[in-house]
Order: sequence, then C-alpha cells, then structure tokens
Amino acid sequence: MKAEHFKHAEPSGQQEHKEAAGGLPSSGLRTNRAEPKDYYTFSDEEKEVEFKRHDMPTPWMNYLSNGTFHTMLSHAGGGVAFYKSPQIWRITRYRFFHLPMDRSGPYIYVQDAKTGGYWCPTSEPALDKPEEWKSAHGMGYTRFEAKRADIAARTVYFVGPYENSLIWNLTLSNQGSAAKELKVYAYAEFGMMEFMRELQWQCYNKHQVSVQYHPAETLVYRYGVENQPKPEETPLVYLASDTPLSGYDGDREEFIGCYRSESNPAAIENGGCTGSTLMGGDPCGALQFNLTLQPGESRTINVFLGTAADEQEVERAVAHSREAGFVESSFLALKENWASYLGAWESRLPDKDAERMINIWNPYQAHRNFLFSRNISFYATGTFRGVGYRDTSQDILAVVPFDTELAFDKLRLLLGQQYKDGHVNHYFFPNEGWEPVTSIHSDDHLWTALAAWDLLAETGDAAFLEAKLPYYDGSEGTVYEHLKAAIDFTASKLGPNGFPLMLRSDWNDQLFRVCREGRGESIWTAMQLGTVLLRMIDLAAAAGHPEHTAQYEAMYEAQRKRVNSIGWDGQWFRRAIMDDGRFLGSDEHDEAKIWLNAQTWATLSGMADEDKGLRAMDSVRDMLDTELGIKKIHPSITSFPDPADPLTNYNKGTGENGAVFCHANTWAIIAECMLGRGDLAYKYYRQLLPNVAMDKAGLWRYKAEPYVYASNLFGPESDKFGLANVSWLTGTAAWMYVAATQYILGVKPVMNGLSIDPCIPADWEGFTVKRRFRGCVYDITVTNVSKVCKGVKQITVDGERVEGNVLPPYPGRSSVKVEVIL
Ligand code: NOJ
Repeated sequence: MKAEHFKHAEPSGQQEHKEAAGGLPSSGLRTNRAEPKDYYTFSDEEKEVEFKRHDMPTPWMNYLSNGTFHTMLSHAGGGVAFYKSPQIWRITRYRFFHLPMDRSGPYIYVQDAKTGGYWCPTSEPALDKPEEWKSAHGMGYTRFEAKRADIAARTVYFVGPYENSLIWNLTLSNQGSAAKELKVYAYAEFGMMEFMRELQWQCYNKHQVSVQYHPAETLVYRYGVENQPKPEETPLVYLASDTPLSGYDGDREEFIGCYRSESNPAAIENGGCTGSTLMGGDPCGALQFNLTLQPGESRTINVFLGTAADEQEVERAVAHSREAGFVESSFLALKENWASYLGAWESRLPDKDAERMINIWNPYQAHRNFLFSRNISFYATGTFRGVGYRDTSQDILAVVPFDTELAFDKLRLLLGQQYKDGHVNHYFFPNEGWEPVTSIHSDDHLWTALAAWDLLAETGDAAFLEAKLPYYDGSEGTVYEHLKAAIDFTASKLGPNGFPLMLRSDWNDQLFRVCREGRGESIWTAMQLGTVLLRMIDLAAAAGHPEHTAQYEAMYEAQRKRVNSIGWDGQWFRRAIMDDGRFLGSDEHDEAKIWLNAQTWATLSGMADEDKGLRAMDSVRDMLDTELGIKKIHPSITSFPDPADPLTNYNKGTGENGAVFCHANTWAIIAECMLGRGDLAYKYYRQLLPNVAMDKAGLWRYKAEPYVYASNLFGPESDKFGLANVSWLTGTAAWMYVAATQYILGVKPVMNGLSIDPCIPADWEGFTVKRRFRGCVYDITVTNVSKVCKGVKQITVDGERVEGNVLPPYPGRSSVKVEVIL
C-alpha cells in the first residue's frame, strides 16, 4: 500500500536539499546554505532563544503583551504595536508582504555626532551594521546587544503590566578611551489605526489624523477618522521618554524624507529632528537625545510608546512611566508573572528538544494563540479574523492547566456567541463591534464541551456549569445547558445516512465545495461528536442531569455503528459523503483516497472497532507519514471530484492539499498513545519539533521559527517540501501540548483526580514531572523498569502504595512525592 514517492529512504525534499549543496535546486535555496547553529541557540535556563544574525530566512517573531497592549516584534526589530485589536487600533505600520521585508518597527538609531555615521542596535534597518550583535526572544520580551565603534547598546523591549505601553529600555556604554558625542533617535511609524480603511481611503482619511507636541515633552498621535467603529474607545497614542529631548518629529516626510526609507532617514543625515508636528499626512513619532558619554560611562534612556484614553490620562501615564524604578519594577513583574504561569509544570526528559518545548516554548506559544486567536502574525495581516469559535475553543485546552480563571473567561466569551438552538457564530469581533460571521459549520459548536470537560477535570469544581450565560439571540441558559444545546443542534442536523450534515464545512475549511447543496455528511464530525458525547456523560453527571446520559449513550452508539460500517473503506475510515452521495476518502478514487483526521479521530472517539483502529493508523503510517510529518491527505488533489471544480485550489503539497498539516498531526500522536504504540507516537511527535524539522529540512528550506510550531509544512508533492508556513498562530500549539503532556507523558487530569498513564518510547529509562494540580504539586518520577511503551505497574505516593493509576486530590498538602514504575 505504500505510495510510490515514499519508496526512497528519505523524503524527496531532503534529497533535493542535499543536491542543493552541490548544484542549485530549482526551489529557491540559492542564497544561503548556513547551518541552523550559525543562526540561533537556545538558552533554556533563561527561557530564551538567542539569534546570531539579523538576516534570517524570515522574520522570527515574538509577541510582547500585557493582555491589552501588544507588540509583535521580530529578531531584527521589525514589528507592529496595537491596542486590543489590530483591526481597528493598530498603532504602528507594518508593511506585510512588501520589500524590504520586516518593516517598519520601533527603531533606535545611534549616531556619532562628529562623523555622522549611524547604526541601529536592532541591526536593521540602518545600512551600517554593528560590529558585534545578537538578539534574543524571551518570555514577553526581546533584547538586543550590539556594539560599534566602542559604543555598546543593550536594548530590551517589553510590555509591562502597569501601563499600556511598549517600553524600550536602552543602555549605551562607552567602552573606548575617548569621550563620545552621540545623537540617539527613537522612531516609530504610525499608521492609520484601521488597516483596511487605510488601504481604501487613505487619500482622504490621512488628513483626519494629527501628531502634536505636548509641553511635557510628549508626542501625541490622534486618530480622528470619520466612521471609525468605536471613536469613544479609540485611544490616544503617546511617544515619550524619561530623558530630556533634544528634538522631535511627528511628520514622516520630515524625519524619513521622500525616496528614502528607514535605512537612511533624512533628519538623521541632515543634522537632526526638525520639530515637525502633523495636521494631516503620514504620521510618525521620532525623539532625539543628544548626549556625551565619557570613557567607561553608561546612560540609560527609556522610551514609552503607549496608549491612553485622553490627554489627562496621557499625562498621568507618562509621569508614572518616568518615575524612578518604574521600568525595573515593570520588567520584574513581567518575569514573575511568567515564572508563576509556567511554574504549573516542569519536566525532565531524556530528550532535551522535547523537554524545552514542553516546559517553555509550547505553553508560551499556546498562550499567545489563546490571546490572539489567528489574528496577526508575520503571515496573517490582522485585518479580519477576529476570534474564531472553533480555534479559540481548542486554544483553551492548553491554558486550563495554567490558569483556570483565564480559561473560564474565554469559555464564557465563546458561549455568548451561541444561539438558543445550539449553533454558534463562526468568527466574532469582541473588540471591534463588527457583525459576526454567521456561517454554520458542523463542528464549531461541539468543541466547547472539550474545554468545559478539561476545566472540570482540572478544578474538580462543577459550580461553573451552573453559571447562567446569555445566548446570542436572547434569553440565557446555564453553561451545561449551552453545551447540551450544541449536542441537540447536531442531533437535529443529521443527513440521509445518519451522519452529521457537513453544513458549511467541518474542521477542514476546504470541505465546503463538496457540500454546497446541503446534503453532504461529515463522517469525521460523527467521530468528533462521539468524542464530545463521552465528555457530556461526565458533564451531565457533574451538573446534576444524569437523566441525559441515556440520550448521549444512544447517540454515541448509533454513530459508532455507522462509523464502523458505512464509514469503513477496507483499509481506513472514509472522511465524508459528498452531495452526490459518493464517498470522500476512498480507495475508489485516484486522488484524496485517505484523510488523516478520519483515522485519528476514530480512535480518539473510542469508536473504532479495535482491529479497524489499528489498521487505520497503520494506513496512516504507510501512506501519509514522511520524515517531516504526516500529510493530511494522499494523493494530493488536482482534479477531484471534478476537473472543472476540484475540491481545493491549493497547489498539490501545500496548505489543505497534501501538506504536512501540523495541527492534524497532533491527533495522530494521541491516537498512537491510545493504541499503546509509544515508539510510533514519539516518532510523530519528535519529527515535528520545529528545531528538529528545521535541522532535517535545512534552515533555508524550513525558514520559519525553530521555537514555535507552524500550521503546516509543504509536503513531498510540493517543489518546496519542508517549507514551514503560518507559524505561531495555529491549533497545533494547544494540541501538541495536550498530546505531549497528557498522552506521551500521560499526566492527565480526569474527573476523580490526576491520571498517570505514560506512553513513551520503550528505550526511555524514565522521566520526571512536577505538576500543579488542585493546589498541590505532584512531584512525579516515572521509571521504565521493564522497557515498555505503556503500562503502569505500580504507583506510590509518599511511599504508600496507591491502587490503580488515578491519584486523588490532596487538599491541604503543598506537595506529594509520586513514584511510578512501568
Ligand atoms: C485553519 C483554521 O484557522 C482552522 O479553523 C481550521 O480548522 C484549519 N485551518 C483546518 O482547515
């Protein structure tokens, strides 16, 4: 059953990459063949990733945020700041897609007042580069260390918890033997706050913005554009410093000039800032500081790019920011907040790549998904996505272990988008006040029950199920009633074969084409429903509605039978039934024969007959797996089901069409763990660790960040196998976290306690986990005495034998020592 192109020992992209070392490949790796280690290193103690060069294959991003004020910042200082919403309150301009790449950003320029030469601590965008340079992303901050002509600059950018501002903390030191006269500039380009309106109406609306200089040495940008969605909530933007100013500009034309760029600003080359303000035009904020540094002397300049409701608030915020100790205490609080958040889990594993990901970067990425949904990244322009019901429901899963209140807040926000009949809005815009996207998908409304179950398992407290929440179309119901309405909605939307109707699509956005006439059914949604029904049985009991159990069980059983009969193709499970009654995901067809999700969720839902579950996952291994992850479908689609109207427009091997879709890979890991095949589960897990995949594919092929998951990697049918896309904001983050911690390491909250049931590679000798659970730290040591993948033989807690593998809560205890023997 192996597909042709998997016959060779390594994936085709890798061969191509190796060939690249000798001759030029056809696919764009021509410019650079450096090794990943020349570009970055991890510093796990500091929870940082450090960069050695500014000229990466793409900007490698970080998100700095206090939950209200946000900045996406690259390793080279490019990025965009926004207040609450990048759609309507974008503060700085970032030119997505355009060359030069990664512009603009919150830049600092250091100029030698005598020679006129200037450079940037961020390396970009000035043309003269630092002689020594490195940068690093940490938890909520990004720092740069640079040196040129005896001047060393250390800059830390972060958003602290006390004001809504990006703090630029710059320390300059003269390491030479002569005094240095310097001109230092801080610069940010403001854009129209509504990026889409800017594209359409900039010629008029640009004359409705202003930048004014206020006596307290503060530039204030006002976005006064007509028809903006929430003028009364639109903040003023300020740029100020704790160091006296020697000049300023508010007009981009004066500071940068025409036919110039951030690489060679006119003001810097012509003697300094011009003192411009702006009553219409292209706004910016530029501050100038003249200073002399004696040999050995250091000076710190803090710059604050922030938002405030009105002029008085601006004054208050700037005065507060200038207080002695404000910057230091803000940074300390940021560090402490992250230490406390990540303190919920710490593991020591034989695999350091996995250990780093699980302890640090994966929960950090998942937290950013939770905050930003799929809104704004280097790949996503932050113009429309809002909050996706489906996506955010899944993001909650990886926040529950760290902060149950935050998780419940989001659950409440989502359930407010549910209609009385149980269906939900597909996307919505809590900050923007825009109308939601109301298309009805077969899966959206079902996801929230998974988050609710996890919340209940984490806290053991069912009270939240009784909380009354409004429906989007009026009246209210308890959380449990909302969850039940979702089930009832699906029950009322079954197709001719008894599976849930596909409606607009299911998890796979591309399936709309095979169900336009409204008859298509999703076999995968039947499996998702099954997974949810198992949770609903627990939730019903916890909410005091055991009378609903029989209904859930009957539905489950009916769907289970269908999945194993109509849904079974012989070697794998079918994916859907199209409008015309034909199966999608069947050996009958030449294209899209097998779909990953139908194989994994057959096991996740517990629905697959045992032999079928295993057989289906064997088919995944044989037909879909590559050394760089598991493809979503095989073979890719070019003309199916109709050459004139194929299922997707994605090129083969890309996106939804035969790429390695990382989000869907997470469920293969979970399925293999549930089947007890720890070696295979771990293969699937490790091969998608971003730094591991990058090492294999080559840095200039993989391109995206090696510390966060990407949405997908181009598959073997693409000419760029291994190219990672849409990094940072992807459901991969939450589900990889669940797969790694709850299924591979097997530490999973359940209704009556903490279940310990690892499924690891047989050659692991063991591992340790410290996990906060219901107020107690479980200090767990797992020893794999019998060299097995799975099977707990014995557990002791503080030396006492425990029956079974679910540990009870220990109220009143701060920690317990747990020894597990496999
Ligand atoms: C990305 C979307 O954000 C998500 O909602 C969807 O499930 C996946 N693509 C797969 O189509």
